[in-house]
Amino acid sequence: MGIIVKDKVFTIHTKNSTYQLKVDDKGVLLHTYYGARTDETDYSYTIMAADVGFSGNIAASVDDRTYSLDFFPQEYPVLGSGDYRVNCLEMDLGQGVKDCMLFYDSHTIYSGKYSLPGLPALFAEEGDNVETLEIVMKEDKEEVYVHLLYGVFFDADIITRAAFIENKSGKEVSISRMMSAGVDFSHSDYDMIHFHGRHANERNMERVPLFHGIFELRSTRGTSSHQHNPFVVLAGKNTNEEMGECYGMALLYSGGFHMQAEVDQRGYARLVMGIDDSDLDWRLADGDIFTVPEVMMGYSKDGVGNLSRSYHNAVFHHLIRSKWRDRQRPVIVNNWEATYFDFDGEKLLDIASQGAKLGLDMLVLDDGWFGKRDDDYSGLGDWVVNEKKLGCSLKELVDKVNDMGLSFGIWVEPEMISEDSDLYRQHPDWAFVVPGREPIRGRSQLVLDMTRDDVIEYIEQRLFALLDSANIQYIKWDMNRSLAGTYSGQLRCERQGEVRHRFVLGLYRVLEDLNKRYPELLIEGCSGGGGRFDMGMLYYTPQIWCSDNTDAIERLRIQYGTSFAYPMSSVSAHVSVCPNHQNGRVTPFKTRGICAMQGTFGYELDLSLMSDEDKELAKEQVETFKKHYRLFQFGDYYRITSPFDNPDFTAWEYADKDGREAYLAVVFTDVHGNPLPHMVRFKGLVPDGSYKVYEDGAVIGSRTGAALMNAGVLLPIPKESYDSTSFYVSMEG
Ligand code: GLA
Repeated sequence: MGIIVKDKVFTIHTKNSTYQLKVDDKGVLLHTYYGARTDETDYSYTIMAADVGFSGNIAASVDDRTYSLDFFPQEYPVLGSGDYRVNCLEMDLGQGVKDCMLFYDSHTIYSGKYSLPGLPALFAEEGDNVETLEIVMKEDKEEVYVHLLYGVFFDADIITRAAFIENKSGKEVSISRMMSAGVDFSHSDYDMIHFHGRHANERNMERVPLFHGIFELRSTRGTSSHQHNPFVVLAGKNTNEEMGECYGMALLYSGGFHMQAEVDQRGYARLVMGIDDSDLDWRLADGDIFTVPEVMMGYSKDGVGNLSRSYHNAVFHHLIRSKWRDRQRPVIVNNWEATYFDFDGEKLLDIASQGAKLGLDMLVLDDGWFGKRDDDYSGLGDWVVNEKKLGCSLKELVDKVNDMGLSFGIWVEPEMISEDSDLYRQHPDWAFVVPGREPIRGRSQLVLDMTRDDVIEYIEQRLFALLDSANIQYIKWDMNRSLAGTYSGQLRCERQGEVRHRFVLGLYRVLEDLNKRYPELLIEGCSGGGGRFDMGMLYYTPQIWCSDNTDAIERLRIQYGTSFAYPMSSVSAHVSVCPNHQNGRVTPFKTRGICAMQGTFGYELDLSLMSDEDKELAKEQVETFKKHYRLFQFGDYYRITSPFDNPDFTAWEYADKDGREAYLAVVFTDVHGNPLPHMVRFKGLVPDGSYKVYEDGAVIGSRTGAALMNAGVLLPIPKESYDSTSFYVSMEG
């Protein structure tokens, strides 16, 4: 099986990777190997001991100056051990200094996967080849224990890590930094691939070399953020999409996070990741436990594309719990870009009836249906239907939509409160504001103190009442600002450093309760588009609105970056109107459809204003999506070209797991006089299979899998700016 222990050497195997730790003769937990699948050799022989000036020696090393934690690779380095690099734990044991020291205490191994109370975590199902290793480390002088957890997903090629700390010292301990994991690498010849952005421009891929010093990514916003994503890839210098070594690390957390990659004095690299520690001060009472979120680590020796597919499979099979994981997702029409706040019941029914004619499955009523909410300055918190605006009750509206053959979904933003709301007038203390200070507003709204039980109860009571009032099958859970002024009136002042994490725990609590009470409900996550697109949210919401930018061409980059960690079946994308509302660009309707079909598909425009020609195209798009939904939802995803590298076109592909069929889409991002010929090559087919090849739905011939994968298909000449095409191949016989 996956975990083998011999003489305190812990070798963890997945199908294609090996990870090793060792308790040395001093009780220190060393990290000795992570990489391609290998054997159980004790890899501590790779550590070079030396007398390195100004590198401290722990007391247990006695007079041996060649033993220093300042350069030894460790599993969970702490501040106070003479290791001056970025660490995993900073804790004050009551003396006002943040020094501690951990030594091995015990370990257990069991089959199945550990879970984390109140936090998202990968899970194993009956029959899955999954094991857990738990190593307990004890503080040198105090009864404080750090439990290191490892989930070994053998077939999925993923190892998870998490940790919790148990205080039995008889006194309060304060924790100012506790990372989920650290990994030491025996060299630093790596590039860091990461995903930065801004609102309406998320997850731009950037690849930068590691350097002597610390490269760090952080969100201090209380959410995972548009600006940085809690997923990174460490890639060898020559590693590309199809070749070479790379490691991934993703944090299952939706609050602020911190990732650091340090290259030390001896050229070793260390990667640590965990919750944002910029204002963390967790007071752990005697007898209490503090748990930090999980990371998902992956390794590939066959390029970044393969690493992504490992993540996609693991997310799909071990993270997404919703019944909607396996169900065909509804093709929706959302009224946001169609009407913004300016709608009534008639308008919504008009959109729904047009949608029914196009073959759509669901109407989603976006912002503006509740309280006093005709713009984004008021109403948040008052989750009571504005029947005057709708001209009927919500149930009446939903019933009419259902009668047209469409199901119904609705938008909510439960974590928020407007100052101009009945809720705020009744409970001004429920909003985050530092006493005596002016609030920091974002989109003219404040954030509810989700650390409070009464706030959670109110949100749940309002959401449950809403969902029980009509046949609602979907909600879009939005969150439209960063946190600020996170003072909670219910915690004493020394505990304010707990608020941001407690906020996330409050969010997870509501989402958990919602999932339990409404197991059939499809929840789409959203935070001003993709401001909280992370593994933590995917545990509760199987799909997430990827960006407020609906321009097909900008979406190529946004969806490309998102695909590195997250399966495309979790990426929500819609066809919107042109000129596009975010950037004014005009793109063909066909291309908008092809780009939106890259994820969970839908429309976000006033269907009644569409031309007859576009309506016909929309019908075809919906048919195409439904025909191929198995490929889109369950197939293997391949990034064929990068929109960051290839100025002329972007291509991607979904291939059936057994290679019997595949769909490849191409969007031309530039046009030229006297255009050059371009070929694109399929992936994941059966070489000696014979495939019928369709271009834009019409058969163009038959080819072998070998021809399609080695020579490829010749792209047509684009007929206009941002033209696009698609190829579908299906094995004959
Ligand atoms: C956010 C979402 C949009 C829309 C608006 C409504 O910006 O990302 O899709 O729901 O809120 O206010």
